[in-house]
Amino acid sequence: MTTSTPKNLLVTGGCGFIGSNFVRYWLAQHTDSNVVVFDKLTYAGRKENLHDLWESPLLSLVVGDIGDMDAVRAACQNNNIDLIVNFAAETHVDQSILGPLVFTDTNVRGTHVLLEVARELGIRLHHISTDEVYGHIKDDHQSVETDELAPRSPYAASKAAADQLVQAYAITYGIPVTITRGANNVGPYQYPEKAVPLFSTNAILGEPLPVYGDGMQMRDYAHVYDHCTGIETVLLKGEIGQVYNVGTGREMTNLEMVDIVLDALGKDHSLVKHVTDRPGHDRRYSMNVDKLKALGWEPKYDPKQAVAEAARWYAENRWWWEPIRSGEFREYYNKQYAERLAGATK
Ligand code: NAD
Ligand code: TYD
Repeated sequence: MTTSTPKNLLVTGGCGFIGSNFVRYWLAQHTDSNVVVFDKLTYAGRKENLHDLWESPLLSLVVGDIGDMDAVRAACQNNNIDLIVNFAAETHVDQSILGPLVFTDTNVRGTHVLLEVARELGIRLHHISTDEVYGHIKDDHQSVETDELAPRSPYAASKAAADQLVQAYAITYGIPVTITRGANNVGPYQYPEKAVPLFSTNAILGEPLPVYGDGMQMRDYAHVYDHCTGIETVLLKGEIGQVYNVGTGREMTNLEMVDIVLDALGKDHSLVKHVTDRPGHDRRYSMNVDKLKALGWEPKYDPKQAVAEAARWYAENRWWWEPIRSGEFREYYNKQYAERLAGATK
C-alpha cells in the first residue's frame, strides 16, 4: 500500500541539522503543506536554522519534549496533523559515551510516546533511523534492510531500540509507519560536534583537526539534500511498514574526508593530529540503497562533492557557527579534546 501526499506535518527535531534541511526542502516542494516543528531546543536545536522561514504562515514552532505525551497529543490535535516525521533525538556518539542516559530518554522513550500518540489518533509516523543500528560491518558487505541490528555505542543502541519499537507497533497494532536509515550526513547547519563541521570550523580557525586513531574508519558522507529527497520519496511512494536505507552506497576513510575538507578550504595538511581513539569506534558503515532506488530515487551528490561543498558552507556562514563555538560548546570541546590534543601525534 502506498499513501497520498500528507498535508499537515509534525516535524519533531525540526530545528536540528537534518530536520531543518527537511523542513526547508519540504515547504519549497509542497507549497500547500503546513509544517509544525515540535522541538525541545536542546543545544543542537537552533531556531536560526530556519531563520528565513519563520515568517511563513505555513510554518510554526511548538517548543516541547517528545517524551511529553500531553504536549505531543495537543500539538497533533490542534494542527490536524496527518503525518509525524520523527527527527528528534540525541545524536552524537561521543556525547553518548560521556552521558548516555538522556539518549534512552529521548531516543527510546520519546519515540515510544510518539508511537502511542500515533496509535491513539490514527496518524502515520515516519521514523528517522541510522546506518549505525547495523553496527560496524566487514569490508565485503553492504547492509541491507533485513540485516540483523547489532549496535555498538549507546547512541546506536538507543536508535536500534527505537527502530525496533516502530516495527513492533506496525506488527502488533497495524499502525502505518515507515522507517528510513540514513548514512552520515553532511551539509549546512550541522552542529560543530560532528566530524565534518568540526574539522571545517577548526581548519578555518587554524586549530588542529583531531582525527581519532589511525583515521582509516570508513563512512558514507551523504549530502543532507539527498537524505531529504530520500525521505520524501518514501513518504510519497514507500510501502507502509517498510524500512529503506538512504545513502550513496560509496564510502571513504576519515583521512580522505579530512583531505577534502582541507583542500576545499585551502588549508595546510599539517593541521591534522592523530588523537586517542573513541572507545568502541565503529570501523565501517556501508549500506546497499537499491530498495530506495527501486522507488525512482537517486542521490544527486557524490560524497566527495558533498564534503567539499559542506566545508565551503562553513567558510561562507561564520555568522551561524561562531556564536556556537564561543559559547556552551567550548565546555564540551575541552572535555572531549583538551587531553587528547595534548597527547596528539602527527
Ligand atoms: P541534531 O542533533 O542536529 O538535532 C536533533 C534535534 O532534536 C534538535 O533540534 C533537538 O533540539 C531536538 N531534540 C532533541 N531531544 C528532543 C526531545 N526530547 N524532544 C524534542 N526535540 C528534541 O540531529 P540530526 O543530525 O539532525 O539528526 C536527526 C535525526 O537523524 C536523528 O534521529 C538522528 O539519529 C538521525 N540521523 C542522523 C545522521 C547524521 O549524520 N547526522 C545520520 C543518520 C540518521
Ligand atoms: P561523527 O561525525 O561523529 O559521526 P559517526 O561517529 O556517527 O559516524 O564522526 C564521523 C567519523 O569521524 C567517525 O569515524 C569518528 C571520526 N571523528 C574523528 O576522527 N574525530 C572527531 O573529532 C570526530 C567528532 C569524529
